Amino acid sequence: MRVTILGTGYVGLTTGVALAYLGHEVACVDKDEAKIERLKQGDPPIYEPNLKELLDLSKGQIRFLTSYADSVPDAEIVFIAVGTPPRADGSPDLRFVRAAADEVGQYLGKRYTVVVNKSTVPIGSGKWVRLVIQAAYFERHGRDADELVGVGSNPEFLRESSAVSDTLFPDRIVIGADDPRVRDRLVELYRPLIEQTFEPPPFLPRPVGFDPVSLVLTDPASSEMIKYAANAFLALKISFINEIGILAAKVGANIQTVAAGVGMDKRIGPKFLQAGLGWGGSCFGKDTSALLTTAFEHGVSMPIVRASREVNWRMRVQVIEKLLNVHGTLEGKRISLLGLAFKPETDDLRDAPVLEIARRLLDHGAKVMVHDPAAAARFLRDQSDLKVELADDPEMLFEGADGVVLVTEWKQYLALDWAALRSRMRVPVVVDGRNVLDRETLEAAGYLYLRIP
Ligand SMILES: NC(=O)c1ccc[n+]([C@@H]2O[C@H](COP(=O)([O-])OP(=O)(O)OC[C@H]3O[C@@H](n4cnc5c(N)ncnc54)[C@H](O)[C@@H]3O)[C@@H](O)[C@H]2O)c1
Repeated sequence: MRVTILGTGYVGLTTGVALAYLGHEVACVDKDEAKIERLKQGDPPIYEPNLKELLDLSKGQIRFLTSYADSVPDAEIVFIAVGTPPRADGSPDLRFVRAAADEVGQYLGKRYTVVVNKSTVPIGSGKWVRLVIQAAYFERHGRDADELVGVGSNPEFLRESSAVSDTLFPDRIVIGADDPRVRDRLVELYRPLIEQTFEPPPFLPRPVGFDPVSLVLTDPASSEMIKYAANAFLALKISFINEIGILAAKVGANIQTVAAGVGMDKRIGPKFLQAGLGWGGSCFGKDTSALLTTAFEHGVSMPIVRASREVNWRMRVQVIEKLLNVHGTLEGKRISLLGLAFKPETDDLRDAPVLEIARRLLDHGAKVMVHDPAAAARFLRDQSDLKVELADDPEMLFEGADGVVLVTEWKQYLALDWAALRSRMRVPVVVDGRNVLDRETLEAAGYLYLRIP
């Protein structure tokens, strides 16, 4: 099938490369010329495990371009996968979706085209996208696009750091459409994924026991809501265990053991029950806030979603409070942050806890040194207002430091020789933001070991 994907970010690029691997003819379009240039050279502009390897295998099936005119008219399916970042009031900024839909309308071909919202968009956006497309088509051609376009919703559930694997082996595929032609075309597109009939790439074997993928066929509003509700629930699960963790620390309970014991209940499950610095990334913060905005517009309050955001915020502040408890003041202290990305195996810094932590440390007068194996270049480019020192080597972070905070649990940080590095610090304090270091080993080596929460 001929597929055009608008936006080559984490979602658009991964989807495009995976569909090309499955044998579809894919055009990936982005307004960012530098990104497209890199992609033409076979060099993904984001860090995502297995993405480059899958791109190498799919080269004959995929092209990269900046022009809608050269990619939309022939497409059977057009995915909108542009960003929907939060605005200052918490509602999603739909500028990029509008611009994409408008240009799709201008370049619609002569045959029926299915346009799909893969971007996370507020509930009801499908109808709006259709109106934008129709208006643009009318303006350019002076006639109606009614019979030329169908709009559907197909939310994305991939996780950064395992985006390729999640796309080839998803938990479910959700399709929201009123028009059966939209639904049928999308089912046809995804058939190799749904039935798992494709040969997996050699570097990413099919998980043992992986079954055909569950398909949810529904109306657009339900499809759009599934995405928001799923993210709100995942965010809530983490905040819930963190709230329990705050009390656990006061009453002398071990939150790791508590979480393990709670997660053994099959109704609850162990995933997303890790206490620590909390969630970040491009989705949970933005999507919970978008959900609250929609609820407000409909006169509904959502205290549970609101509380999960508040608890998450507290976790970031706790780092500063713990360091203040030790040092009294952070003025002139050297505090090092191990990790920048919001989780390991990604270079994404959107809503990363480190941003708030670094800002607060600087406000307290601390000298801040940071390291990250994948996100450092992006940090330098996007966060130039945060005057921190970037180290090439994580061991440098211990030199003369008054505290080291483990922000992102990259494997290489866990493998550091922590005992040997202790003597390089001025004051050997470790704040383990992810509860992954071994307390006994660190205490035996002479560290003051602190955990979040
Ligand atoms: N990142 C995730 O983990 C994730 C997971 C599920 C869903 N989503 C949703 O998917 C959407 C995309 O997220 P992302 O993380 O891939 O975003 P991103 O910011 O990484 O990428 C968006 C891309 O769209 C491009 N773009 C902007 N306007 C354009 C236009 N008019 N035409 C063509 N390209 C345009 C940008 O240049 C950018 O490359 C968002 O709505 C997000 O909420 C993201």
